[in-house]
Amino acid sequence: MDIGISKKDREKIAQGLSRLLADSYTLYLMTHNFHWNVKGPMFNTLHLMFMGQYTEQWNALDLIAERIRALDFPAPGTYKQYVKLASIKEVEGVPGAMDMVRHLVKAQEATARTARELFPLVDKANDQPTADLLTQRLEVHEKTAWMLRSLLEE
Ligand SMILES: [Fe+2]
Repeated sequence: MDIGISKKDREKIAQGLSRLLADSYTLYLMTHNFHWNVKGPMFNTLHLMFMGQYTEQWNALDLIAERIRALDFPAPGTYKQYVKLASIKEVEGVPGAMDMVRHLVKAQEATARTARELFPLVDKANDQPTADLLTQRLEVHEKTAWMLRSLLEE
């Protein structure tokens, strides 16, 4: 295989994308979990807001995994691998509604950091499709973090 990126660079990019996939999956599941379990006066707003977020997140998983495959490396797809690769810690129990929002802000920001960390390598390797994917993911995570953060402010 020769797409103009060395095998070593493809491998390092695939590893970075695997960490992004693990964080994205963990964030997806956290958001869906909170959609199911949120309670309180903000129920309707948060239940619907979380649905929009986990639906977008779910679709993004496929794009990240298939970019890893296009670089000719296996995409991680088990909970065991995700726990090992993710920077986001799973939340225990059922937090209150506003604590759910706080957890999601942190998880959105963590996912943005994981995507951003990979940028220098992707730039150096001249990997435009991955740079494009990372740019799209950063835009979504930063915007969603802002929207969630706004719920916590007076
Ligand atoms: Fe639902």
